[in-house]
Amino acid sequence: MTAAVPRLEIKDLKRSYNGRPVVDGVSLRIMPGQVTCLLGPSGCGKSTTLRMIAGVEMQDSGTIHVDGALICDTVFRVPPERREIGLMFQDFALFPHLSVADNVGFGLKKGTRAEKRARIEELLDRVDLKRFIDGYPHQLSGGEQQRVALARALAPRPRIMLMDEPFSGLDNRLRDGIRDETLSILKEEDTAVLLVTHEPDEAMRMADEIALMRDGRIVMQGAPYNVYTRPVDRAAVAFFSDANLLRARVEGALADTPFGQFLAPGVPDGTDVDIVFRPQHLRIDFDRGGQGPRPTATDGTAARAVVERARFMGNESLVEFVLDHDNLRLKATVPNVFLPQPGSVMWLTVRRDKCFVFPVTGGRDA
Ligand SMILES: Nc1ncnc2c1ncn2[C@@H]1O[C@H](COP(=O)(O)OP(=O)(O)O)[C@@H](O)[C@H]1O
Ligand SMILES: [Mg+2]
Repeated sequence: MTAAVPRLEIKDLKRSYNGRPVVDGVSLRIMPGQVTCLLGPSGCGKSTTLRMIAGVEMQDSGTIHVDGALICDTVFRVPPERREIGLMFQDFALFPHLSVADNVGFGLKKGTRAEKRARIEELLDRVDLKRFIDGYPHQLSGGEQQRVALARALAPRPRIMLMDEPFSGLDNRLRDGIRDETLSILKEEDTAVLLVTHEPDEAMRMADEIALMRDGRIVMQGAPYNVYTRPVDRAAVAFFSDANLLRARVEGALADTPFGQFLAPGVPDGTDVDIVFRPQHLRIDFDRGGQGPRPTATDGTAARAVVERARFMGNESLVEFVLDHDNLRLKATVPNVFLPQPGSVMWLTVRRDKCFVFPVTGGRDA
């Protein structure tokens, strides 16, 4: 059996500006037909990574291979126009003076007139815009222009598609539909896709694999489910959703909290740990004559709290509490409508199996 060759492989890519590392050793492998999302906050180096792969920016070190062939290291460099890479950006600017057909055909260098026309028709059909083939960009809506831009990028059958926040210029209502449509077209074309986004929802929706980036490095990588449910640190939890935090000191591999003791195996005595969990895993119980629910193995001990405020968010309600024990603020989300009065007393428990325990390191916290 031969090992499958990745369509795109980047190894230890680095780039500094004015002595400051902006991309600091990024490695990725993407197979044909696979969508990888480079997800991270603004300024973490996503676009710089993409520009190096496209060839419009030169790396300080590291290599880029396409289908096993070197296309760029620090001495050898295939020029951008020969990399067979398609690009799509937020600001995708169609050529206003060219027809839709000519926009889509713009990057088609090879083939006869008839072959080019056939490819243009095929793609416009695919994005469901064939009726506009002789129209002009100004006659199209934002979403339709986006689909033309996608057809244009795909026309030369790129081996790789690089997309930099391509949907962020679209309004919310359009966005989900266009994302899904784009995804199915990309899958049919069997290109390898690297999609840059700062929106976790977009990454969860589009990606086969998410590479979570921070300060120029990939901090974790995997299927969306794994990245969400097995975060590497507190910031990785907080990047995807609101997060609640309990801080406690470990004694005898146990951390004492208002919700009872948490196991902290392998953590030395005297170390502080962050116990992190998402608002949907805080459970609410009612006050029964000054008593909460009994402790259980899965939910630990209940802690008494007072409702600070409650808001209806559409498909869930967000309730904010203040714990009696130490005035700690915690958030809970509850499906549908649950709007208790501020000042109401309730008892809270935490789903033990949904908590993440991280030793507090000396480093910067998000
Ligand atoms: N040409 C450049 N010169 C100097 N600094 C740059 C240049 N391009 C990007 N940067 C800086 O590098 C960092 C990462 O930028 P970028 O890759 O665009 O991040 P992202 O796409 O994740 O928002 C930012 O701090 C940005 O200001
Ligand atoms: Mg960017």
